[in-house]
Amino acid sequence: MSVTEGAEIAADPDVARAAEYVFDQSWDQESERLRTNEAIWDPGTIERLERLGVAAGWSVLEVGAGTGSIAGWLAERVGPDGRVVAVDLEPSRLDWLTAANVEAVRLDLRTQELPAGAFDLVHSRMVVQHLADRPAAVAKLVRALKPGGRLFLEDTDSLSLFRSSAGEDFLQDVKAAGYGLMRRSGHEPRGGHFDLDAALELGLEEVAAEGRAVMVHGGSRQARHYMLWLESLRPRIVAEGLVSEARVDEALREMADPGHRWLSQVLISTFGRRAR
Ligand SMILES: C[S@@+](CC[C@H](N)C(=O)[O-])C[C@H]1O[C@@H](n2cnc3c(N)ncnc32)[C@H](O)[C@@H]1O
Repeated sequence: MSVTEGAEIAADPDVARAAEYVFDQSWDQESERLRTNEAIWDPGTIERLERLGVAAGWSVLEVGAGTGSIAGWLAERVGPDGRVVAVDLEPSRLDWLTAANVEAVRLDLRTQELPAGAFDLVHSRMVVQHLADRPAAVAKLVRALKPGGRLFLEDTDSLSLFRSSAGEDFLQDVKAAGYGLMRRSGHEPRGGHFDLDAALELGLEEVAAEGRAVMVHGGSRQARHYMLWLESLRPRIVAEGLVSEARVDEALREMADPGHRWLSQVLISTFGRRAR
């Protein structure tokens, strides 16, 4: 892998870090938070990538690549004749991707351009919904596609999160506090719905969308993701008086308890194809 600071993609050494991106990139557990997110969603994403027919020789753009599990999978799949460009605000988490056909690029999707007409597939999971100007971001991703290239976006509808047999209000107070903070940082909790709107408005062909959710068991690796989500937001939601330290501690104990089970967000997958 080579790490590019924007040599091929419109360079801007002073790339504006997304100050308002809600998750603290420098938090010492941020990489683990991202890896546990992959543990929840990768199986379904990979199933859908296989269904799309990703094949040897494809050129793929992975946007907001996080800790890179999907970029790594794609690199193996497209092989030495293909290439994967993995872009993120913080590409250092992609250092472990050493294959020659992977390039990691520091890029802010809000402010930087992508190469036009360059990719057979553009995939992005849980990124667009963090951006204030989502239609502009999706239009940028579509411009990066070759004619006939495929767009695959995944963003959530958070309504189902923490629904449980434990009670109507199970973890709903910490959810309201966390999502309130996220919303003020530009995060759209119904993001997946707007991906579909954008794909239709941009005139993509073969547009389709579907949703999936995962049942999370307390104390599991998947539960750990939600615990780290809460730990990450804790200083700010407590400082704002949205929940108390004691309530956060109690919620973390509830999430660690194997006796609890809850539903994840619904992750909406939107597919479309650029006209030939
Ligand atoms: C919620 S994480 C999802 C990571 C990965 N796509 C996954 O689903 O496992 C969002 C990722 O998008 C990146 N990101 C956030 N805002 C971005 C922007 N404006 N441009 C590029 N990447 C961004 C973050 O650094 C982070 O890696």
